[in-house]
Amino acid sequence: MTVTAPDAGDVQVRQAERADLLSILEIEKASFPQPWPYEAFTGFLDEPGFLVALEGGRIVGYVVADVTPTHGRALGHVKDIAVHPGYRGDGIGSLLLTRALSEVVFQGADSVKLEVREGNDGAKRLYRTFGFAALRRVRGYYEDGEDAIIMVRKLG
Ligand SMILES: CC(C)(COP(=O)(O)OP(=O)(O)OC[C@H]1O[C@@H](n2cnc3c(N)ncnc32)[C@H](O)[C@@H]1OP(=O)(O)O)[C@@H](O)C(=O)NCCC(=O)NCCS
Repeated sequence: MTVTAPDAGDVQVRQAERADLLSILEIEKASFPQPWPYEAFTGFLDEPGFLVALEGGRIVGYVVADVTPTHGRALGHVKDIAVHPGYRGDGIGSLLLTRALSEVVFQGADSVKLEVREGNDGAKRLYRTFGFAALRRVRGYYEDGEDAIIMVRKLG
């Protein structure tokens, strides 16, 4: 399916495949101080919420989201999202998040959560735009000691 991101050209979003993983890992390493290892991504290859964005055939971003039954409810979880540094600010992150949220709704989730570094103001702004609100702080969540903010959003 090809869709138009608000500020980007034509961007295709589809489920991730094994052949995408090296490009994904490259973006992951350029985006996070403690990147996921290759094996962490292989574990999500059959997950419908593991999506990639392509522009001109090149992988420019990805999102990993899944749904877990929790206390009799289905809770969506956005576990990872990143856009290639050279492609940020063009609506691709928003597009990936939109598609991931649709996927977790499709799987029956009635709310969705994510963790974000306290200092990651850009990502927090993106999530607030999408209706996420801070729920609580987890002290020292990340290996370097930074706190995580847990953000949640109800899904209609
Ligand atoms: C967060 C991220 C995925 C957003 O992707 P993107 O394609 O740049 O996002 P968009 O172009 O859709 O931007 C959407 C909104 O996010 C916010 N935003 C994202 N990054 C921002 C930044 N560095 N500074 C300020 N605002 C930012 C803005 O509100 C923006 O809306 P605007 O363009 O109308 O101002 C991307 O910046 C990224 O890969 N960051 C590194 C990895 C990361 O931190 N992931 C989140 C982990 S919780």
